[in-house]
Amino acid sequence: MVLRLHPVSRAIGRRQMSNTPNVPDHYGATDLRRQVRQALEQSGLRPGSSGWKNIASLDQFHARGLAATEDLAAGMGLIAGETVIDIGCGLGGPSRYLAATFGCHVAGIDLSQPFVDVARMLAELVGLEDAVDYRQGSALDLPFGDATFDHAWTQHVAMNIADRGRLYSEIRRVMKPNGRFAIYDAVAGKGEAPIYPVPWARSAETSFLLRRKTWRRSWFNPGLPRFPGTM
Ligand SMILES: C[S@@+](CC[C@H](N)C(=O)[O-])C[C@H]1O[C@@H](n2cnc3c(N)ncnc32)[C@H](O)[C@@H]1O
Repeated sequence: MVLRLHPVSRAIGRRQMSNTPNVPDHYGATDLRRQVRQALEQSGLRPGSSGWKNIASLDQFHARGLAATEDLAAGMGLIAGETVIDIGCGLGGPSRYLAATFGCHVAGIDLSQPFVDVARMLAELVGLEDAVDYRQGSALDLPFGDATFDHAWTQHVAMNIADRGRLYSEIRRVMKPNGRFAIYDAVAGKGEAPIYPVPWARSAETSFLLRRKTWRRSWFNPGLPRFPGTM
């Protein structure tokens, strides 16, 4: 889904970061860089000899992989030279796809330092290190000034975030007027609870699915909703 940001809806201030202590645990990994390097070596991939497509089965960390990224990007109308922020960039597959395909510069941020380290390593492997930039940080306190990016992008991240109001306030804040926001996320069907574990959470403690209608309200009215007991 791609949404256009209306200039008058941007004026929302920065707030304090809320706690998401268990999300990095869920996405944590011991010595992830070494494990990924080994897997790449076993597949015969070496710096300079690999394109971003060669690693797309590894670095697109969401349902439907690269095909989902291509579908989402198709609605964005990106132009070479534009800047995009990828919130919850994971291993960086989507950001490298956007940079390589559209000539955009993409800044990825992620709560998990091991993921950020591997995202940088993979960018170097495929020669895209000048087109992307990764740093550790929270989606609820984006480490960028107001109106920094032309557009914003996020795939399979919001379902880990309780305070959607704050998430969308932060995204609006760092986007320029008339920017576009692309989101691909899991939503609750009829509202029934998932059967845990699910790929993004081991328990309800870090899973915050919204129904589609509530999701739309939370974007257009960033004061809503909050999940009781999590803030
Ligand atoms: C399922 S992965 C998706 C990664 C990437 N967007 C992709 O599609 O390949 C979810 C990512 O969101 C990150 N994440 C979850 N909550 C976050 C938060 N509050 N701030 C920043 N990143 C977050 C996790 O660390 C993880 O890397």
